[in-house]
Amino acid sequence: MTRVLIVYYSQSGEAERSAKAFAEGLQSAGASVVFEALRPRTDYPFPWRSPRRFFDNMPEAMLGLPPEIETPAFEAEARFDLVVIVYPVWFLSPAPVVQAFFKSAHAAVLRDADVIAVSVSRNMWHNASERMKRLLAEAGARHRDTVAVTHQGSALLTLVSTPRALLFGKSDRLLGVFPRAGVAEDDMGRVRRLGAVAAARLADAGASGGPLLAGEPAVAIKRWFVVPELLAWYFFYAWAQFIRFLGRVHGGLRAVGVYAFAIFLVCLILVALPCTLLGTWLAYPVVRRRLDAYIARLAAPTGLP
Ligand SMILES: Cc1cc2nc3c(=O)[nH]c(=O)nc-3n(C[C@H](O)[C@H](O)[C@H](O)COP(=O)(O)O)c2cc1C
Repeated sequence: MTRVLIVYYSQSGEAERSAKAFAEGLQSAGASVVFEALRPRTDYPFPWRSPRRFFDNMPEAMLGLPPEIETPAFEAEARFDLVVIVYPVWFLSPAPVVQAFFKSAHAAVLRDADVIAVSVSRNMWHNASERMKRLLAEAGARHRDTVAVTHQGSALLTLVSTPRALLFGKSDRLLGVFPRAGVAEDDMGRVRRLGAVAAARLADAGASGGPLLAGEPAVAIKRWFVVPELLAWYFFYAWAQFIRFLGRVHGGLRAVGVYAFAIFLVCLILVALPCTLLGTWLAYPVVRRRLDAYIARLAAPTGLP
């Protein structure tokens, strides 16, 4: 019987729903599943209520400075036919708790293991996924595929519905115009089917094959949002360094930096996002080839021979 370990972290529940849906698919195809929910030593508040506390996590998430986590329950030396890592995206990066897992002794479970990485985000998962590929490569894993799960509704409307749910715990359809916050039930059906396909192909082709989900709807890339997300990453990186620097000078200054970043982010969305979308559209004939190559890279697994 195919043995699968699913390692996940979930704060508001969407990554956990995705992990369970993927597991149902695996089990329907005859695999046995071991779940491991990662937990930080000190819990993050949910709902966050305070924008300062929320944005205060950006520098460490961006710069790979994760918190301490509880020791996972599975044996670090255990071997599985497949490991599935389900991670939320925090500030264009894998959530810090998941980054902490890669620094723990239990990351040894990934060495020479076949791994599928499942990102769960509002909409911006590209940079986090590329980072995850690097983490997997460093851990010695064979990255067999990528699955992207995003919140329902248009990428622009979720800029309101997702932060509203995270900050105030309200996930209903605001004014009847905005989507419900979170992943659509239909999309969970897709995740379930992907789990079943992965288990069937793993049993068929074994560990030596290529991408486990080739030809399946594992990721959907909205090409117009590729360039804005890349630009956002550079801005976030610079702000992360700056806020850390302010924090070293004085704790109070760090808080000022965090507020300034939050205001900057709103301006970025209101001003820079439309400008970048327009710029990409105007430059499209020139940048198309490079954009296509980057999109192909985003969709592909790494770590394969
Ligand atoms: C601190 C924080 C930062 C986030 N940053 C991003 C982001 O950069 N891009 C994105 O698409 N979603 C972002 N999100 C949204 C989460 O990825 C999304 O809500 C996801 O469903 C969270 O998973 P969970 O429900 O399992 O906790 C962020 C959420 C939190 C809490």
